[in-house]
Amino acid sequence: MSIKETLIKKLQDKSAEIAILGLGYVGLPLAVVFGEAGFKVTGIDPDARKVDSLNNGVSYIPDVTTEAVAKLVNAGKLTATTDFSVLKKIDAVSICVPTPLRKTGDPDLSFIVSATDQLAPYAHAGMVVVLESSTYPGTTREMVLPRLNGKNGLTIGENLFIAFSPERVDPGRTDWTTKNTPKVVGGITENCSDVATAWYEQTLDTVIRVSTAEVAEMTKLLENTFRMINIGMVNELAIMCDRLGVDVWEVIDAAATKPFGFMKFSPGPGLGGHCIPIDPLYLSWKMKALNYNARFIELASDINTNMPHFAVNKVQDALNRMGKAVNGSKVLILGVAYKPDVDDLRESPALDVIHLLQQKGAIVNYHDPYIPQFKHDGWGMQSVSDLVPAIHSADVVVIVTNHSGYDYAAILEEAALIVDTRNALGKLGKDSPKVVRL
Ligand SMILES: NC(=O)c1ccc[n+]([C@@H]2O[C@H](COP(=O)([O-])OP(=O)(O)OC[C@H]3O[C@@H](n4cnc5c(N)ncnc54)[C@H](O)[C@@H]3O)[C@@H](O)[C@H]2O)c1
Repeated sequence: MSIKETLIKKLQDKSAEIAILGLGYVGLPLAVVFGEAGFKVTGIDPDARKVDSLNNGVSYIPDVTTEAVAKLVNAGKLTATTDFSVLKKIDAVSICVPTPLRKTGDPDLSFIVSATDQLAPYAHAGMVVVLESSTYPGTTREMVLPRLNGKNGLTIGENLFIAFSPERVDPGRTDWTTKNTPKVVGGITENCSDVATAWYEQTLDTVIRVSTAEVAEMTKLLENTFRMINIGMVNELAIMCDRLGVDVWEVIDAAATKPFGFMKFSPGPGLGGHCIPIDPLYLSWKMKALNYNARFIELASDINTNMPHFAVNKVQDALNRMGKAVNGSKVLILGVAYKPDVDDLRESPALDVIHLLQQKGAIVNYHDPYIPQFKHDGWGMQSVSDLVPAIHSADVVVIVTNHSGYDYAAILEEAALIVDTRNALGKLGKDSPKVVRL
């Protein structure tokens, strides 16, 4: 049997050993899914706290239960380490490291580079490496391949196999999970695709094989750019409806009754999370290098990044209506996570909203059941622990993240004034004179 056939056989009979590099929101669920499918999985992460937590059988990601982790750890199917040398005996590696932006707005590929460099000394014949991090088309071929090809007698597509497969997980979601969301896979060569597809088919419900790594990379960017641009469009609709004195939420709900040709997106105080605000900028950055200006992306990004200002103007107008200035007013922000029912603050528009209000002299507090405190760029805050007294003492309550656990009717009852940037109050808010909606 060839090296490729031997590896595919090991993947099919699940005797292959798996490693996941990066045990975050993407890596940990993936490690658990592979473990539950019967593979022996080793998670590798420089963050010793995550490693210790997993080895103690405790999850730190809301989508993964401690019970699931403990079961795998106790069965010897999941271990974690900070030591990359374990990769010597690993057959299949999935790289799930962050791909943020630099302060300048350019892609920060340093985590992909460091993970690949740390893997390189232990790469060996009969290994498959799949990059899962969202990134621009060409990254796998330009950044991962040269760091492994030719090392330790390795030739890509012959004895070492490299592919890209974007993670599509939507944290907090229970209907579509890592296991049942179709997985797109594209290899550097046909052999690479054969091996990577064979691996993922053992575990995930549906694997979609595409012709190249670049197609797989671009697929992820299409998905996230589609969302970002549609959210930008609907945010602009909110601004236009505001000028026209038309209820944007009613317009969107009415349009959504069309059974075909329309997909519902909601406006809000800005874009958040690790993917939608960032990934399209990877694409526009890459296009700039090719002398092409990705205009839709730039325009949507511009509108979306201005939404926190629009939300703060709403707060200003609402207070004004009560004869109050922002300066010196007590503002209570409800929800700082970037979306409902998650504990993730990355790129959250709440950070901008808080910052802008503070700049205008407001005394800002926040409440978020998922985020008891945070530190960001040298400043930080702590959630108020007691919600009702905080609502009573606020001049205005600003709903920034519509967590489903909040009792919105009770909040409406207790608050003097509410700015609802998410239509969390629905009809209650529309009918109440003390609610200002986006
Ligand atoms: N979070 C999501 O909803 C989501 C969804 C789809 C895709 N993605 C993409 O998946 C990738 C990972 O995102 P995430 O949310 O899991 O990030 P995360 O920050 O939650 O986790 C990344 C992990 O990688 C670890 N890490 C850093 N450098 C490393 C290295 N050299 N070797 C091994 N581990 C290293 C970090 O310590 C961290 O634990 C990103 O590219 C992101 O865009 C994220």
